Amino acid sequence: MKPFSSKRISIILSLLFSIITGAAMSMSLLISFSDYYWIYILFWMLLSFIIYYVSIYNAFNKYILKKIKPYFETIDALQIPESKLYRHLEGGELLKDIDKKFMEWAKRKVKEIATLKANEKYRKEFLGNVSHELKTPLFNMQGYISTLIDGGLNDDNINLKYLHSSEKNINRLISVVEDLETISALESGSRIPDMLVFDILKLILEVIEMQEIRAKKKGIEIKLDGGDNKNVFVRADKNGVSNILSNLLINSIIYGKENGYTQIVIKEKDNKVFISVIDDGIGIKEQHINRIFERFYRVDKSRSKLQGGTGLGLSIVKHIIEAHNQEIKVTSKLKEGCNFTFSLDRVN
Ligand SMILES: Nc1ncnc2c1ncn2[C@@H]1O[C@H](COP(=O)(O)OP(=O)(O)OP(=O)(O)O)[C@@H](O)[C@H]1O
Ligand SMILES: [Mg+2]
Repeated sequence: MKPFSSKRISIILSLLFSIITGAAMSMSLLISFSDYYWIYILFWMLLSFIIYYVSIYNAFNKYILKKIKPYFETIDALQIPESKLYRHLEGGELLKDIDKKFMEWAKRKVKEIATLKANEKYRKEFLGNVSHELKTPLFNMQGYISTLIDGGLNDDNINLKYLHSSEKNINRLISVVEDLETISALESGSRIPDMLVFDILKLILEVIEMQEIRAKKKGIEIKLDGGDNKNVFVRADKNGVSNILSNLLINSIIYGKENGYTQIVIKEKDNKVFISVIDDGIGIKEQHINRIFERFYRVDKSRSKLQGGTGLGLSIVKHIIEAHNQEIKVTSKLKEGCNFTFSLDRVN
């Protein structure tokens, strides 16, 4: 059964009113007439029914449309044209439709509120992390400088050492701010990848060279597989890819094992080039793998901090890869090592 029909309600009310009118008339007519009074009563009842029906139906629709139309428009964001709205009304499905639309709207709102709450939590955490990362080197510097002012400047045992330590903390501040700038530029979309065709093999060799001293200090050997010493051309943002490779290579050394290895593998498949950075280091527990690309996420905070890590590196890597519409995948076993593989568009 239809839950609501203005037509049906108008008919019922008009019938009721015309019967009352007929009854009232018959009582008065009974007194004054005796012949044909039924015809008169029937005629007046029919006439009053038509008049009642037209006025009730119009008043009813006018009232309902006036009241409900704004809700309909708001909920449905004007998806239903006005002509259809009238048809809904006449079809008797109005309340059912409003109910359905309202539930859809309510569900959407509940989802939106949940997202807003999650964003708010995320924003608070982010601000907390940023201020913490900035506060630590600032407080360190404050300590060194205060000691130098309080007489340390004349103490040859510490003056130069403390100045060097202050410089290290300034460098750390700069690197955190630069990383944050990179992330915000990538997120806002203001940094559009500068797509060029270049030889990825050559770039990898350059990045390896830059990290050789760091690797040597830990006795880590960097190996390169694939590419067969020929050129491997890709279309990508060269600076972005250099940033990805540096971050992955540095991680493989920092979280690598003493006297271990880092292996870079290049594979060409169809119109893609897959680059893997593999190490035999500490590895990552499965439960952390999905989170390592989040900003400031570090599996072992104290270990990462000791190496000067802020947990922004992989977040930048992921953003750059997404800006290229490419993918990065991680596989790892605790205490056995990691494999980070990302793709790029190949150029023949
Ligand atoms: N090759 C790896 N082996 C083991 N753990 C890793 C490796 N790479 C990343 N991780 C883990 O993932 C976390 C996030 O890495 P990410 O590079 O984002 O931050 P970070 O190295 O701590 O700091 P930075 O911002 O200086 O790079 C690291 O703290 C570390 O716990
Ligand atoms: Mg890192």
